[in-house]
Amino acid sequence: MGYENVIFPKETKFLVTGAAGFIGSNLVEALLNMGYQVRGLDNFSIGKKENVEEFIDNPNYEFIEGDIRNFETCLSACEGIDYVLHQAAWGSVPRSIDMPLLYEEINIKGTLNMMEAARQSGVKKFVYASSSSVYGDEPNLPKKEGREGNLLSPYALTKMANEEYGKLYTKLYGLDTYGLRYFNVFGKRQDPNGVYAAVIPKFIKQLLNDEQTTIYGDGKQSRDFTYIENVIEANLKACKATHEAAGEVYNIAYGGREYLIDIYHVLCKTLGKDIKPIFGPERKGDIKHSNADISKAKEVLGYDPEWSFERGIVEAIEWYRENL
Ligand SMILES: NC(=O)c1ccc[n+]([C@@H]2O[C@H](COP(=O)([O-])OP(=O)(O)OC[C@H]3O[C@@H](n4cnc5c(N)ncnc54)[C@H](O)[C@@H]3O)[C@@H](O)[C@H]2O)c1
Repeated sequence: MGYENVIFPKETKFLVTGAAGFIGSNLVEALLNMGYQVRGLDNFSIGKKENVEEFIDNPNYEFIEGDIRNFETCLSACEGIDYVLHQAAWGSVPRSIDMPLLYEEINIKGTLNMMEAARQSGVKKFVYASSSSVYGDEPNLPKKEGREGNLLSPYALTKMANEEYGKLYTKLYGLDTYGLRYFNVFGKRQDPNGVYAAVIPKFIKQLLNDEQTTIYGDGKQSRDFTYIENVIEANLKACKATHEAAGEVYNIAYGGREYLIDIYHVLCKTLGKDIKPIFGPERKGDIKHSNADISKAKEVLGYDPEWSFERGIVEAIEWYRENL
């Protein structure tokens, strides 16, 4: 279980794109703690300088401020790199509905630039962030790779496009790509601010500040909330995967299912708050239920997540208490 036994030679060099963001900065931290060489890339369009400054004094860390929309930047970022962990993108379904053109530019063109740069640089593996949103309106649970519905947002379309390019890059050019379909990740450094913030950090921050929170819909929507440590494990195990396992996509989740309203009550109880939420209209592009079948990642990548929602939320709350 976990990733303690996933070991690379000490001189191994990783590139983490989106290094100033939530998942990217956690990957950087884990890799540096394991003693590897890490290069981060981010343009700070969403990510924060403090997520880079925290690690920049580590001699094994090097950071490039740059944009994945610029191919030359991607090429220099890939120079001398063994493994690319590509996280840079704009997230959020509702924001993508507001700004479809930007999503095309950043998420599709940017990812294609990164894949092409990785190919030209001869990197060993290209592991990239996809998303459970690619399941669209497919109603059956659990969600299973190969059983996708109609897409519901430009964001989902960009992730699907990434996956198609990923498959092509393996087939046409022999670049080992692995698409990780993350399901609602949560944990330290996830941004609680702004209208497009993810629910868990948003709820925690509002409760800590004694503010009322808005739940869109009836609160009975469910998600497979996935603690960040499981996502780190998946990325490292994908780097160790075989060539036969490349050109494929994998659900990365815990395999559980939490209802939003229950999470709200758990947070109220843990934080000692008695604040009633406001219920707003359902949001366009949102799906009602999501829960992952993770058997493919388990069988093929050896993914074996050890952080349940209950275990992860305790650590996450502790971090927000100390850092907000
Ligand atoms: N957090 C989740 O629950 C979740 C779920 C599914 C998929 N994902 C995917 O995982 C990846 C990381 O997500 P996150 O939650 O850490 O998001 P995040 O917004 O915290 O991090 C993304 C980072 O990418 C950077 N970035 C954006 N555009 C860039 C560009 N043009 N050039 C360089 N850097 C750029 C941002 O500044 C930011 O630091 C994304 O691809 C996202 O779509 C996340």
